[in-house]
Amino acid sequence: MTSVETASDLPIVRSVADLRAVVRDWRRQGLSVGFVPTMGALHEGHLTLVREAGCRADRVVASVFVNPTQFAPHEDLGKYPRQEARDAELLAGAGCALLFAPTVDEMYPEASVTTISVGSATAGGPAQGLEGQFRPQMFGGVALVVAKLLNQVQADVAVFGEKDYQQLMVVRRMALDLDIPTQIVGSPTERDGYGLALSSRNAYLTDAEREIARRLNGVLAEAGAAASSKRPLPAVEKDAYSALLKAGFERVDYVAIRRADDLEPFANGIVDAPARILAAAWLGKTRLIDNMAV
Ligand code: PAF
Repeated sequence: MTSVETASDLPIVRSVADLRAVVRDWRRQGLSVGFVPTMGALHEGHLTLVREAGCRADRVVASVFVNPTQFAPHEDLGKYPRQEARDAELLAGAGCALLFAPTVDEMYPEASVTTISVGSATAGGPAQGLEGQFRPQMFGGVALVVAKLLNQVQADVAVFGEKDYQQLMVVRRMALDLDIPTQIVGSPTERDGYGLALSSRNAYLTDAEREIARRLNGVLAEAGAAASSKRPLPAVEKDAYSALLKAGFERVDYVAIRRADDLEPFANGIVDAPARILAAAWLGKTRLIDNMAV
């Protein structure tokens, strides 16, 4: 028997079998399905993804699962914000039809041993460098959980935020390589009135840190403009790095301008094709990432 919780306005399922039963029923009615995977602690950025999925499909499933395989032991898995009741309310308001909120045991039964790596140092691929260098655990974990979720939901379309641009590239590559038929769609980053990219991790920022965080997008926009006027990229990246430190960021992991389609560096050291500027920088214990088209 299918077990669907209805405590909130939004039906919630916790097992893959129950998820599939609901989706099967929709399919029988001839309805198309959209999917938005999340780790919860939802904000307007996530809700935009849900609305985007709703424009592309008759029914939208969202998942809330704080995926342990994408966190390194020293990272914030334990303190990652968890607020399911609030998330369910927000999702219902954005037009989501079903919340899939599995347990860790449901997603990773004890016997599971399969891993996924999207490329390698020798084969290349979108997981190399940038986030892949500073968070080597992450993209294997993301690829694994997203492959599982896409297989579990079997949606027509899945929507991912461009805020995690490299993740979007990794997911696209993985879905292509594994013949996953769900269409992968990227949705533009939502920003606050000061241009700060919305992120669940912004909740960690103090007021003073938030002021500094709001300067990240301006530094990237300025560097992007310099790059698109053909200034040599090493100089542009170096200046942007210094500008972030001057703005008050305590540490900068990277500022890089890469080819937008595969995140490879520009061989000639200038922008001669569609490009993306990407950065990661620290404020206290909070690591912020952002990116934008150049
Ligand atoms: O972007 C996220 O929130 C996560 O990396 C994702 C895609 C839900 C996988 O856990």
